[in-house]
Amino acid sequence: MAYIYDAPSRTFGEYLLLPNLTTKACVPAAVVLTAPLVRFAADPEGPLPDATNCPLTANIPITSALMQSVSDDGLAIALARCGGLSFIFGSQAIDEQAAMVARVKTYKAGFVASTANLAPDATLADAIAVTDRSGHSTIAVTHDGSATGRFVGIVTGRDYRRGHTPVDTAIVQIMTPVAAMHCAEAGIDLAAANDLIWQHKLNCLPVLDSHGHLDTLVFRKDHDAHKQHPLENVDAAKRLVVGAGINTRDYRDRVPALLDAGVDILCIDSSDGYSEWQAETIGFIKSTYPGRTFVGAGNVVDGQGFTYLADAGADFVKVGIGGGSICITREQKGIGRGQASSLLDVVQARNDYFRATGIYVPICSDGGISQDYHVTVALALGADFVMLGRYFARFDEAPGRKLQINNQMLKEYWGEGSNRARNWERYDHGEAVPDGAAKLIFEEGVDSYVPYAGGLRDNLETTLAIIRSTMCNCGSLRLPQFQRRARLTVASAVSLREGGAHDVILKDARLDSVDG
Ligand code: IMP
Repeated sequence: MAYIYDAPSRTFGEYLLLPNLTTKACVPAAVVLTAPLVRFAADPEGPLPDATNCPLTANIPITSALMQSVSDDGLAIALARCGGLSFIFGSQAIDEQAAMVARVKTYKAGFVASTANLAPDATLADAIAVTDRSGHSTIAVTHDGSATGRFVGIVTGRDYRRGHTPVDTAIVQIMTPVAAMHCAEAGIDLAAANDLIWQHKLNCLPVLDSHGHLDTLVFRKDHDAHKQHPLENVDAAKRLVVGAGINTRDYRDRVPALLDAGVDILCIDSSDGYSEWQAETIGFIKSTYPGRTFVGAGNVVDGQGFTYLADAGADFVKVGIGGGSICITREQKGIGRGQASSLLDVVQARNDYFRATGIYVPICSDGGISQDYHVTVALALGADFVMLGRYFARFDEAPGRKLQINNQMLKEYWGEGSNRARNWERYDHGEAVPDGAAKLIFEEGVDSYVPYAGGLRDNLETTLAIIRSTMCNCGSLRLPQFQRRARLTVASAVSLREGGAHDVILKDARLDSVDG
């Protein structure tokens, strides 16, 4: 007979945290959010360890989902600069994914690839069009109009007057030519580049290679880029840290390409990770590239799944089936579990595993976070870090298109199980599929919009402020301490209603709807 769990399947929104004593030392500025990302050894007799001996950590417990509509190189750079980590989506050609990883690893703060460029035969009309399209008023002129062509000069908004300068004016007539500019040689460090900017009162410093080709631009306005990102997540060589998604099919080809590109950590992308395919993939990576990388596995929703993957050598285990905002797995197949219940079961198994082996395997809570406080609840329940899709898809840095519908700015967000993503490998069961045959018989995800929310950094700062403040309410300055001390209660439906604004008329609500 089927086994029926006594307890219902619960999710984050059903829990509330109770405050503990907040000491005077417990202030948000003192909260440290460092999170372990991969397995490490610690004393099994002692308390659950913090991240001190973990070989790969993040400075905030937040990662972005391995999804086409979330984690490309642009978002990975923005998130790593704020202390987190992205997993570049694996549902793309191996060389394209490796190129994205390489772009993150070679990114240098303050040195930006020129995104607004023109060739010397362009006119002012072209410059205006580029500015309107890109939002950048500084345009590099290169011999072929590319970002890395031979540098010819620069046009800025101060070189012409809209509505007055004839739009058919040749760009070379109004630009500042290279001969009249201060440029730097590739290889210069940021401090020296900024010194040149200050010394010569420049707004923009072009950095050229030894053949006079444009390498990057350094802008005066970005001079304190480092100071704005004190939590930047970098490796020993000061390069940003980045992860990448892989599947259980082409890993023999994909993993070496990602390693060559400099990837720091891998994660197997699957909706159901409790499979021999995952154990085999982990085994291959561990035996072929010992000590060269880390690999996370999942997703699972219970202790059995966790222990299986931990025994197989997974460096972290990802939890969650069916809770993602774009996910319809539960509707389609009736598989899944409430995210909080999944997490509690897995955390128990992880703690037992640690007591038995002295190996601490971090847990990632993946999907279903629709409020900032859900992150805090996930951490309180024992997750070491969370993975978010919808949250990041709303930002400028995410790859989805931004568009306006009915006066609302939206971004596109589509699931890896939707037809659009064509991510067959995430869902397949290892059966051979004849070439050309449809590989996704039914969808497990939708193609959707999310409200556009602006830039990543500002939004993330707010989320982190909420987490830090809650931790102080709960009398904790570090994540392990928070997890040890956390006390939660399941809220009744009535008390959840009490939790929002109620029995008042909000000032930004439409008063006419109250009048009838
Ligand atoms: P969100 O943060 O609630 O939007 O959830 C993101 C997570 O949903 C991802 O990290 C994946 O684990 C999961 N996911 C991504 N695409 C799909 C899909 O098409 N169907 C089901 N789950 C998905």
